[in-house]
Amino acid sequence: MELKDFIRKIPKAELHLHIEGTFEPELMFEIAKRNGVKLKYNSVDELREAYKFGNLQDFLDIYYAGTNSLQTKQDFYDLTWSYLKKANGQNIIHTEIMFDPQAHTGRGIPFSTVIEGIKEALDDAAKEFGITSNLIMSFLRHLDERSAFETLEMSKDYKEWITAVGLDSSEVGHPPSKFKNVFAESKKEGFKICAHAGEEGPPEYVWEALEILSVDRIDHGNRSLEDEKLVEVLADKKIPLTVCPLSNVKLRNVDKIENHPIKKMLDKGLKATVNSDDPAYFGGYVNENFEAVAGALNLNENDIVTLVKNSFEASFLDKNKKDKIINGLDAFKL
Ligand code: ADE
Ligand code: ZN
Repeated sequence: MELKDFIRKIPKAELHLHIEGTFEPELMFEIAKRNGVKLKYNSVDELREAYKFGNLQDFLDIYYAGTNSLQTKQDFYDLTWSYLKKANGQNIIHTEIMFDPQAHTGRGIPFSTVIEGIKEALDDAAKEFGITSNLIMSFLRHLDERSAFETLEMSKDYKEWITAVGLDSSEVGHPPSKFKNVFAESKKEGFKICAHAGEEGPPEYVWEALEILSVDRIDHGNRSLEDEKLVEVLADKKIPLTVCPLSNVKLRNVDKIENHPIKKMLDKGLKATVNSDDPAYFGGYVNENFEAVAGALNLNENDIVTLVKNSFEASFLDKNKKDKIINGLDAFKL
């Protein structure tokens, strides 16, 4: 089997996916039109043309502007459903989806509208495609901790729908320690803990995510490689890294895909996984991310199986389900 077919066919999990980052220009125009929202761009092509980013902040400015047309529960349903159809087509059988409540509540959209639209699509995908999912509520780190606490408060009515809390948005200047208290409270509430760290920020931010937030997973984590002791601790504690290769190139954290560190991460014993981050903006969903690193770094079928197994192991699925899927992957290999 060609490696590309192997990648397509193997059942996969996705662990690092911002639902707002799946907003394809075609759907954005459709939803903007029905809500009477005027976009800054005149056409789908013009919008796509703007997707050239010098760094994370360049991207975030466009990403937040893109969310403005999302207003009703139906909009959030359509956004999520459109991703889940893609995911199903790529043989993703389990997905852990981040959403940014503050990007919506900050412009007057109720928390309930956002989460109810997303959840209904997740339930439909479970019924129609058999895709299982978990939701990760991410706090925006460029805002203050009080705003994160308000968001945590709003989420309490929907606690059983949310598996984990996360930390995303502009990294540099907003270390994990800024959110020490709200993460402690979230942990008390029973949420799993994720945080973006070491995407643009220094290894110290990964240390803080580990030691101050007590994370279960690190999102990205690339810059951990600059600190040998940190790599040792991440490997020892088996802390997964949810790595996003095409995102890293698009946001210029890696100069070209041939220099992507994911193989190095595996060689150092890190539990690296492959994910798409914001696929509508970065040129590919999970399969395209696998294909990109496989081609550029000469990965073979065993490497792909390792990465896919890592994703299921790193997921928040319960142990029985994980074991069952992982055993099935061995059979797939043959
Ligand atoms: N929000 C959406 N995508 C993100 C990324 N790659 N880093 C930080 N925040 C984000
Ligand atoms: Zn991300």
